[in-house]
Amino acid sequence: MPKPNKDQHLDWFDEFDPQEKLADVTPRIRHAPNVRPPRKRHPQHKPKKSPAQVAVEVAAAEEHQPYTYKASRHEAVWIDESLGPFHRMGYFDDILRIVKGGKEASVYQLKGNETTRTAYLAGKIYRPRMFRQLRNDVMYRQGRALLDSGGEVIHDERMGRAVQKKTEFGRQVMHTSWIEHEYMAMQKLYAAGADIPRPYALGGNAILMEYIGGDVIAAPALSTVSLTAGEARDLFQRSLSNIELMLSLGLVHGDFSAYNILYWEGRMWLIDFPQIVRPGDNRNAREIFDRDVVRICQYFETQGVDSNPQALADGLWHKYIREGLGKSELAALDPDSPADRALFYDNVND
Ligand SMILES: Nc1ncnc2c1ncn2[C@@H]1O[C@H](COP(=O)(O)OP(=O)(O)OP(=O)(O)O)[C@@H](O)[C@H]1O
Ligand SMILES: [Mg+2]
Repeated sequence: MPKPNKDQHLDWFDEFDPQEKLADVTPRIRHAPNVRPPRKRHPQHKPKKSPAQVAVEVAAAEEHQPYTYKASRHEAVWIDESLGPFHRMGYFDDILRIVKGGKEASVYQLKGNETTRTAYLAGKIYRPRMFRQLRNDVMYRQGRALLDSGGEVIHDERMGRAVQKKTEFGRQVMHTSWIEHEYMAMQKLYAAGADIPRPYALGGNAILMEYIGGDVIAAPALSTVSLTAGEARDLFQRSLSNIELMLSLGLVHGDFSAYNILYWEGRMWLIDFPQIVRPGDNRNAREIFDRDVVRICQYFETQGVDSNPQALADGLWHKYIREGLGKSELAALDPDSPADRALFYDNVND
């Protein structure tokens, strides 16, 4: 485990093994549908490099840092590999600062330009080790299709076996698949009007999205903000509408909490979707959904908003997820009621 100190993210980058990263980067960039891809040439896939080449690159990246943000030694290589292709393709003009560095992902504030027509962008880079940890949990993975770097479902048996055996190649496949799931969910949610940052592009182990915050301060997590009573009530309702919208689209966030909601000038944005699950595919979805609802209700309770999380979760689930009735529910149906009879035949014929 990394030692905690005030420059923790730099330690994590310094610990990082360049070979681990090089194996993971597949700089195939996918643009959001209504963002015109910049005209510069697509970077070619690079073959695996020797340790000597890596050492040369580390030194070169340290020396050549075209950005305002001055990264530590290994972080510079990491940034160059992950955000460099976007920069070279003209998506952004500069990296201004690190918004948040961590052992799973780091987020940078980028200076936008006319390609994206926005003052800033947020660039989220995943570290490969994230995919060996927590969220790679079997509970979330259950029923999930493997996606390739084009967002297509992988049917290749060899890849499936590699994932099961957790070979290095299998890990790369999983890594790509997780980011693909996050990006596709973001596209779907944004298009449906959910309160999330607009996704701009996906490539390798990085996602470009709308930056939330001001010129020098990024939006804080809701968990760190003190809300007025009115704001708390509004944001609670907003959180529930987002949970409901997600469920209506067949999605459950899976890590919904005040830590994954950004707050800026009275509004909220949900972030952080790699562990998203689909009730249609994942048999743990109900449990994960209940946990999301309970967690958010508990947070708002600390802000003075009372609720009944179990009743809310039950109500939403039954509204959107069609499940067969249980034995006792079937027994309680009235055979003289046409509606109940229809429900009965509907269930026994499933
Ligand atoms: N679009 C954005 N605009 C501004 N800041 C952002 C944006 N996305 C993420 N951040 C910042 O980066 C942090 C981490 O992002 P995110 O929650 O997506 O990653 P994570 O892997 O869960 O990291 P952590 O475990 O540190 O929460 C957020 O708490 C927030 O401070
Ligand atoms: Mg998070």
